[in-house]
Amino acid sequence: MKALILCAGKGTRLRPLTFTNAKQLIPVANKPVILYSIENIKNSGIKDIGIVVNSENREAFQEKLGDGSDYGIKITYILQQEPKGLAHAVRISKDYIKDEPFMLYLGDNLIFEDIKEYSEKFLKDDCSASILLTPVPNPSQFGIAVLDDHGNIMKVVEKPKDPPSNFAIIGVYFFRKEIFEAIENIKPSWRGEYEITDAIEYLVENGKKVRAHVIYGWWKDMGRPEDLSEANRRLLEKLSRRKILGNVDDIKNVYGVVEIGENSEIVNSQIRGPVIIGKNTVIKDSYIGPYTSIGNNVFIQSSEIENSIVMDNTTIINIDRRIDNSIIGSNAKLVKTDTRPRVLRFVIGDYSSFYHSE
Ligand code: DAU
Repeated sequence: MKALILCAGKGTRLRPLTFTNAKQLIPVANKPVILYSIENIKNSGIKDIGIVVNSENREAFQEKLGDGSDYGIKITYILQQEPKGLAHAVRISKDYIKDEPFMLYLGDNLIFEDIKEYSEKFLKDDCSASILLTPVPNPSQFGIAVLDDHGNIMKVVEKPKDPPSNFAIIGVYFFRKEIFEAIENIKPSWRGEYEITDAIEYLVENGKKVRAHVIYGWWKDMGRPEDLSEANRRLLEKLSRRKILGNVDDIKNVYGVVEIGENSEIVNSQIRGPVIIGKNTVIKDSYIGPYTSIGNNVFIQSSEIENSIVMDNTTIINIDRRIDNSIIGSNAKLVKTDTRPRVLRFVIGDYSSFYHSE
């Protein structure tokens, strides 16, 4: 079986982070979101993975993941020129998939559940498709499914105003070749996209067997900044052992589960885990509090940060208020100086946010 990971959307709700980085490449607990998906897929025995990218993000994916050999997989990149919907992304991947059964995985989803069991069940079943569902409190924001008592799908509908159930379609699907015929028979939805949900509904309406499995573990679609923060917290909670490769001048100031990468320096600073710090990073005269991920080549001096994500190559100096619940992109500079006049000077990109409380 092959897998197809879709990464060609626009990521508008995660701007400005997505101006310079695809949302699936944003690091959570210092690892790009897509690598969690790749690990999960690989764990279920699949090594042949197609990644659907667009012309803007293709290079970034190729640079980060290459041909997949570093991760023990084989990656084929498939270009979707325009984000015309999930079903369109599947249709343009037909030459890659051929007639084989395949797994479809939405690249912006983080699922902690092991999917191996569902992939094995699908291969043993004679169904045309199988999808994973989870109950949600806000069903009108997802594809929603209605199922019978035996786990068969009776109906699916994309982002319904009046949801017929609260079982959301999460981003993991299994298909056999019938899905390609279904895709040929659907029309664009109200949002102008070829919806995979409509193709699944076509299968159901044409008497094909579509199975469902309800999962209850944590799952998130990385749509908004608060989703990234929550995922970061959850992943750091799962850190189980201390791993300090860099230099710490006084280990008594490091509490709890903390990971510090090679060549990083912790000087006169307190680190309170769970915290993960990348390589070649310097933390001086500072406090790094729980649920913080700090990337590679970061420089932090005389500042306090907790519950936050700080990406690679960023500099934070002399910020005298604790930075909390923040996402700071790569190559950013946050500096407080003592020079006069006392001003705030900004060079911040479109869609950035700055909140200051007295
Ligand atoms: O997150 C679960 C939901 O994902 C499901 O409940 C919905 O049924 C399903 O349609 C999907 O809805 P979203 O509106 O959240 O999909 P989104 O546009 O965020 O795209 C999901 C992924 O697919 C994302 O990694 C980008 C990629 N994508 C999206 C489009 C529209 C493509 O590769 N090509 C596309 O044309």
